[in-house]
Amino acid sequence: MPATENTRAPEVHEHALGEQHLAGAMALSRAASWNQCEADWRMMLRLGEGWGLTAADGTLVASIIVLPYGDAFAWMSMVLVSPDHRRQGYASRMLRRALAHLQSRGLAAVLDATPAGHEVYLQEGLRDTWGFQRYSLTESRLASGLPDAPGMQLRGLAEGDWPQILALDLPAFGASREGLLRSLCARLPEAALVAERGGKICAYLLGREGREARQLGPLVAEDETVAQALLAHALSLVSAPLYVDIVDRHAELRGWGMKQGFEVQRPFTRMVCGAERAPGDNRTVMLAAGPELG
Ligand SMILES: CC(C)(COP(=O)(O)OP(=O)(O)OC[C@H]1O[C@@H](n2cnc3c(N)ncnc32)[C@H](O)[C@@H]1OP(=O)(O)O)[C@@H](O)C(=O)NCCC(=O)NCCS
Repeated sequence: MPATENTRAPEVHEHALGEQHLAGAMALSRAASWNQCEADWRMMLRLGEGWGLTAADGTLVASIIVLPYGDAFAWMSMVLVSPDHRRQGYASRMLRRALAHLQSRGLAAVLDATPAGHEVYLQEGLRDTWGFQRYSLTESRLASGLPDAPGMQLRGLAEGDWPQILALDLPAFGASREGLLRSLCARLPEAALVAERGGKICAYLLGREGREARQLGPLVAEDETVAQALLAHALSLVSAPLYVDIVDRHAELRGWGMKQGFEVQRPFTRMVCGAERAPGDNRTVMLAAGPELG
């Protein structure tokens, strides 16, 4: 029977998501074995807005967040339904709520779908673009040592680097996301790194702590050699367990990562609605920030 005709579905109440829902939100992401910690939910609610469905007993049973990036598109994230309430049309309802909100503001929608979410999104009109894979590293070890990086300086991010970082990120991501990048920089300072070549920043990396592992990303770089050098440098500074989301087209970086002990965890598909293609340029996006952030 289609979800919308399910007469046994209990009553739920739709509302805006706020800090008062953090405990329920954490229960949802924990039940899905996702990596977000409370700081992630707080950051996303501060940078964007969300909606939820709450059951009569006060349990938050579904969530969605939208993060506006500039005046062309917004990210949709945290599409979660509690395991006991799935297949009752709740994710589709949350998605339609968010899509209507974005459409009324003239914004395209972009998201990174898990295999389970992919089916829901296809039915609501989102289209596939490119993909990436989540890799996890349980033990820090640099199997092949630090790669050669001639003429390159790898160092911690300094306040004066921001103009160059933002200039590198804008065409890569497709919109300004300064608020997000600055938040990530403060979340895990030891992962905030840059690579310089000829006095010019050619790559940057940020990271954050998580419920299960620290996540490294975004990593934007002019080429894969620089990306590899910067990631190797990060592995010598940030301890495992670690997650990275490597963009599929960067085969060399993936191969190198697997030699360091990274293992594939799950695939994600970047999907869009209201635009012809995904924003940005994935030739320079080596590691996504994460499916919930873009
Ligand atoms: C993915 C998820 C959000 C779906 O929530 P849901 O409320 O069960 O989804 P809906 O009831 O709105 O599903 C609508 C339709 O999508 C399809 N669908 C939903 N979940 C599916 C799944 N796991 N596998 C295949 N198809 C699925 C079905 O066609 C479904 O209609 P039907 O139940 O009449 O067959 C939920 O399973 C979940 O929270 N999973 C863990 C977190 C996750 O992966 N979120 C997606 C992030 S991108």
